[in-house]
Amino acid sequence: MSTISIIGSGGMATAIGGRIAKAGHTVEVVSRDLAKAQALADKLASGTITGTYGATPVGDIVILAVPYTHALAVLADFGKALDGKVIIDITNPVAPDLSGLITPHGSSGAQEIAKGAPASAHVVKAFNTVFGHVLAQDQRLDAFMAADDAHAKARVSIFLESLGLRPLDVGGLQMAQTLESLGLMMIGLAKNGAGTWDIALHVDIG
Ligand SMILES: NC(=O)c1ccc[n+]([C@@H]2O[C@H](COP(=O)([O-])OP(=O)(O)OC[C@H]3O[C@@H](n4cnc5c(N)ncnc54)[C@H](OP(=O)(O)O)[C@@H]3O)[C@@H](O)[C@H]2O)c1
Repeated sequence: MSTISIIGSGGMATAIGGRIAKAGHTVEVVSRDLAKAQALADKLASGTITGTYGATPVGDIVILAVPYTHALAVLADFGKALDGKVIIDITNPVAPDLSGLITPHGSSGAQEIAKGAPASAHVVKAFNTVFGHVLAQDQRLDAFMAADDAHAKARVSIFLESLGLRPLDVGGLQMAQTLESLGLMMIGLAKNGAGTWDIALHVDIG
């Protein structure tokens, strides 16, 4: 069992934190507002701890659970405090009107976040194709991930498996472009053809 740090205290921090706590890991909640971090910590599990925003997180895995539009500013606030960390980028960099992605052409939110993270950190894209309320339902969902560093990817794969998810490696970090498009696709599907937000992507293998 290990300590996993989450930056953010919103819907996804709550959903992912809930699964982490149920899996028996310790969750460290880090918020700009200590009262919000404490409120989420109280909701998750008795051993949940809070961290100081901008200070070195306890966990070797740090989940960045903030809007994409603020992710680079958050990374700047932490600076070298994220040295050597495995940073899980869960963001969906979608335009407010859902007309597309707001990332630079030929890049992804994850690749931009990697540029803003310390060189010694490793960014892994994961969780962005899963809706928070579905994640909270404790099903064995498919968890797609993309990353360049093999060790970071292996670490996150074990972590995802420990949460009762099925890790599915889609390739290098450039594949985050595809995962982010899939995140937008899921929103479009929920609002249109599916007619419900209770949906999840599933891949049949073999
Ligand atoms: N909702 C979903 O189902 C879903 C699914 C997949 C991916 N995502 C992605 O997950 C991320 C979080 O989504 P969410 O639904 O949890 O959003 P949310 O409920 O709005 O929470 C976002 C959190 O980000 C932090 N934050 C907001 N503005 C910030 C700023 N200027 N600087 C630093 N931190 C800031 C806040 O935490 P503090 O106030 O505590 O600092 C806030 O609680 C987003 O990137 C979203 O695209 C969401």
